[in-house]
Amino acid sequence: MPRPVTRRSFLKISAAGAATTASCAYAPRGGRKPGPVAVSSRNGLNSMELVGEKMAAGLPPVDAAVLGVEPVENDPNDTSVGYGGLPNEDGVVTLDSCVMDGPSGLAGAVAHLENVKNPAQVALKVMRRTDHVLLVGAGALEFARAHGFREENLLTERARKRWLRWKEQHSGKDDWIDPTDNGDYGKEWIERPTGTIHIGARNAAGDLGGCTTTSGLAFKIPGRVGDSPLIGCGNYCDNDHGVAGATGRGEAAIIANGAARTVRYMAEGMSPTDACLATLRDVARMTRTARLLRASGQPDFQLKFYAINKAGDVGAGSMYPSKYARLVANGAELADTAALFEERN
Ligand code: GLY
Repeated sequence: MPRPVTRRSFLKISAAGAATTASCAYAPRGGRKPGPVAVSSRNGLNSMELVGEKMAAGLPPVDAAVLGVEPVENDPNDTSVGYGGLPNEDGVVTLDSCVMDGPSGLAGAVAHLENVKNPAQVALKVMRRTDHVLLVGAGALEFARAHGFREENLLTERARKRWLRWKEQHSGKDDWIDPTDNGDYGKEWIERPTGTIHIGARNAAGDLGGCTTTSGLAFKIPGRVGDSPLIGCGNYCDNDHGVAGATGRGEAAIIANGAARTVRYMAEGMSPTDACLATLRDVARMTRTARLLRASGQPDFQLKFYAINKAGDVGAGSMYPSKYARLVANGAELADTAALFEERN
């Protein structure tokens, strides 16, 4: 099991390069090729077995990943993805997703999609039924309609109440009144999650695929798009080297081209976990604006990367300690990410 690293041990890892690998990766013994493996943000844990079963049944990894994210897109209690996702500043739920298929090298994506709760399935159609990669907004919705996707209101009562609470309390200089005497609002009501789900998958033949889907940053400025629908940022797959994806602060994953960077590090020979940490180290180095930094100089946000290499080793890294889900020889399990920094300063 990977352990969160202390600053001292992180420096040791930086120097030793592959030192984190042995404890984190699924490395089959005796040169045996692994069966299907998968990696996910922690909200994908319940989908890991399904993803493995679908690949074992012959479905391409990208299709298995899309089926894996679907229960989370449909879950009204996951407020960072699909139906029940927290809306933008105007109270409108907009969804982003992308898929990438290793064997064909093709990708598909939708951004700022309204009223369709399974944007990953729409992204898959963009990949397979168009010569484009990314459709946005009204065009993405028209395309989804053309393919028979059902339209529905994605704003649940729970999400609407959280949005209203945010609107009423986030400024004292407007006409919205903060009803502080009218509810027991906990921390959850005030937070602006950047949840998201990423699933990366590798079948027994060594083919790779990945999918990321999200409702994006809660209460975002209308029109804001994060990393999740951007190939190379929230998801990337190179069938010769690996698949990687991101959750957390999308702006940081965009600026670093985080998923593609992580795959590139694997192509250079790093283990999945070390590749994720190397990308996070780059993100930390490239974060120079005071409002994004803690007093210690560390980034003041969470960001996580998940990766599988061609050999079927699985790993994940995060800016601060966290968990991720994986399907390995033992079955589906939650594991600690390798953390770049301790949650301390
Ligand atoms: N990582 C999801 C987002 O920032 O939209």
